Amino acid sequence: MTSSRIVTALYPGSFDPVTLGHEDIARRTLTVADRVVVGVARTATQAKKPAFSMDDRLAMLEEVFADEDRIECTAFEGLLVDFAREIGADVVVRGLRAVSDFEYEFQMAQMNRELHPGMEFIFLTPDAHLSFLSASLVREVAALGGDVSPFVSPPVLRRLRERFQKQEE
Ligand code: PNS
Repeated sequence: MTSSRIVTALYPGSFDPVTLGHEDIARRTLTVADRVVVGVARTATQAKKPAFSMDDRLAMLEEVFADEDRIECTAFEGLLVDFAREIGADVVVRGLRAVSDFEYEFQMAQMNRELHPGMEFIFLTPDAHLSFLSASLVREVAALGGDVSPFVSPPVLRRLRERFQKQEE
């Protein structure tokens, strides 16, 4: 049986900033969904003061996915499950890099399922060469003057340089 229904996946996160690991997961999601909404949460569970404003995080995402009209980027307020309902998401996608991610992801998925029993969560693994990558490590290396060009796309690299050069001045 074939279906013409559009499958929408929500890929939520902080994206502070978007790394090649995030890009890999978003593009991989297109192998199982027709449309991916990259949702930048205003309230993150492991809340820290973000290095980049919401506008900057969205601008970077829009630039890195400018070549792919099946990927949309937007900010959201409040609960992930409410936003998922609002956009008619069929599934929520998260990246799973290593066993160390599992506990946090499992806890969030179980809580989200309590809040929205109909929502499904799928976990995709990035390419092996990206499996050690995190936005927090990229921020730290960039802030200390290290080369992060292998880990982020050019628009992100430019903003990281601007952000951390400004801090040094
Ligand atoms: O990239 P992150 O910071 O690991 O992403 C975490 C995120 C944004 C997916 C999570 O904090 C989230 O869903 N925030 C929205 C608020 C919410 O629904 N909190 C309850 C989660 S069980």
